[in-house]
Amino acid sequence: MNRSDTLSMNKSSWEREAPRFFGRAALPDFGPLAPSEDRLQLFGEISGKRVLDIGCGSGHSLKYMAEMGAEELWGLDLTSAQIEAARQVLENQQVRVSLFESPMEKNPGLPADYFDIVYSIYALGWTVDLKQTLDHIHSYLKPGGTFIFSWEHPMHDRISYENGAFQVKKSYQAEGPELNEAWKNTVVIHHRKLSTYVNTLIDAGFIVEKIIDDPLLPEEYPDDHEKWYSVQKAVLVPATFIVKVTKPV
Ligand SMILES: C[S@@+](CC[C@H](N)C(=O)[O-])C[C@H]1O[C@@H](n2cnc3c(N)ncnc32)[C@H](O)[C@@H]1O
Repeated sequence: MNRSDTLSMNKSSWEREAPRFFGRAALPDFGPLAPSEDRLQLFGEISGKRVLDIGCGSGHSLKYMAEMGAEELWGLDLTSAQIEAARQVLENQQVRVSLFESPMEKNPGLPADYFDIVYSIYALGWTVDLKQTLDHIHSYLKPGGTFIFSWEHPMHDRISYENGAFQVKKSYQAEGPELNEAWKNTVVIHHRKLSTYVNTLIDAGFIVEKIIDDPLLPEEYPDDHEKWYSVQKAVLVPATFIVKVTKPV
């Protein structure tokens, strides 16, 4: 399957499934079993900043940015149902809101050297071309600007719970497009190693500031081995990782 076929397959699945994800992966949370922005304080001062959300989904992270005082709210997403949801979630904002229905692999008309903050909460890993997407993100940021993203940790879907035990079922090393089990094989996600994310960020011209893969676990562990995002699994491997980089001045 070529990249444009993958994008159209993923888009039609997202159009169908969007309501299930309404407000589900949004700041201040970075994702399942991960510490939140309230605890990590990765963004620093948001007040007065121009922010761009890559894969903005239902717009709840942009709403959080507005509550933190961001001056302009920009977002792009592949899925028209998500852009429509985001429009409604953000309709009463007093600041500029600009939303684009577009794959992140393309620039839908976003300005260069403009944003103080670009971020992506559980969306960057959907890209069919990581380098191209990161090159775009680098171009949107002002020199000195920050890019922060979270995504599922690349060890997480390598391990399954079967016959009463967690087992490594797939190779961590094997990169490339895969039909995704959590989506009942109706979408393709590219498996990438952590080093691929970091090295591609470096190749795109970013400086790596921080990588977080410590899980945030509850005091008592539920018997949730079978769940996709399981506390019992997160005791062994993180569910989520978070990366903060900057564009050099
Ligand atoms: C888990 S949701 C993100 C939720 C969002 N962070 C929020 O605050 O509500 C992932 C999003 O990525 C979008 N997406 C998937 N592939 C994409 C692509 N290639 N380009 C742009 N967006 C994409 C989906 O449409 C979906 O809205």
